[in-house]
Amino acid sequence: AARTAVPRDLEGRRVLITAGGTREPIDPVRFLGNRSSGKQGAAFALAAAARGAEVTVIAANMDAAPAADVAAAGVTRVDVETAAELAARVQELAGSASVVVMAAAVADFAPAEPRERKLKKDELGETLELALVRTPDVLAELVAHPVPGRIVVGFAAETARDADELVALARAKVARTPADLLVANAVGGGRGFGADENAATVLDRTGRVVAQVSGSKREVADAVLDAAGDLLVGRDE
Ligand code: CTP
Ligand code: CA
Repeated sequence: AARTAVPRDLEGRRVLITAGGTREPIDPVRFLGNRSSGKQGAAFALAAAARGAEVTVIAANMDAAPAADVAAAGVTRVDVETAAELAARVQELAGSASVVVMAAAVADFAPAEPRERKLKKDELGETLELALVRTPDVLAELVAHPVPGRIVVGFAAETARDADELVALARAKVARTPADLLVANAVGGGRGFGADENAATVLDRTGRVVAQVSGSKREVADAVLDAAGDLLVGRDE
């Protein structure tokens, strides 16, 4: 349903959003990437700005359209390429935020030794094995060092067969990394990445379902910010 009035519940608060998808270099021309467009992160930026927040977006390779939306909303954008760069920027900016929304799809592994010169196929033969190493888990790091009065929102992109499996996978993720809110959404088969619509189930840190929303990415963002606002109010009391 369309909103009639936007709550100004984030007036004067800082909101930090990661958006898009990281790219991990293999060599100067190639990278390991993912299908994230940055549309959901941009929708969070616009929704938070409309609620009065001071918004910063850490943008990893966002598509042109969501990047233009963010610019038009007068939101500060910091561009990053890799998981390591994203981690460094979050570390620098998350301290002063009331809400951190980790909407970016962050690579879990990166090439161990990115090559300085382009790989040449004739020197490699019929197969190529790339050694990969784990990247820093930015969300886990934030959750491990909680700041009083700060809400951390994580995401769980899952290839689930049905709604029950989606919730089960999300509960396992929130048990491992107890973010204040976890936004679970089904991906694959044309859902999630790049689409204008999204469907999400929002869990709290105990695994309880606190919201279920299906609609535009802006509607998903507003539903999650409603839940974050409820937690902020609860904590201020
Ligand atoms: N994330 C992160 N740092 C990473 C990888 C992921 O901060 N190196 C964050 C994402 O921004 C997202 C959340 O962790 O908010 C969950 O990402 P997801 O890929 O769904 O889950 P993972 O915990 O990485 O587990 P897996 O990919 O194995 O399902
Ligand atoms: Ca992952």
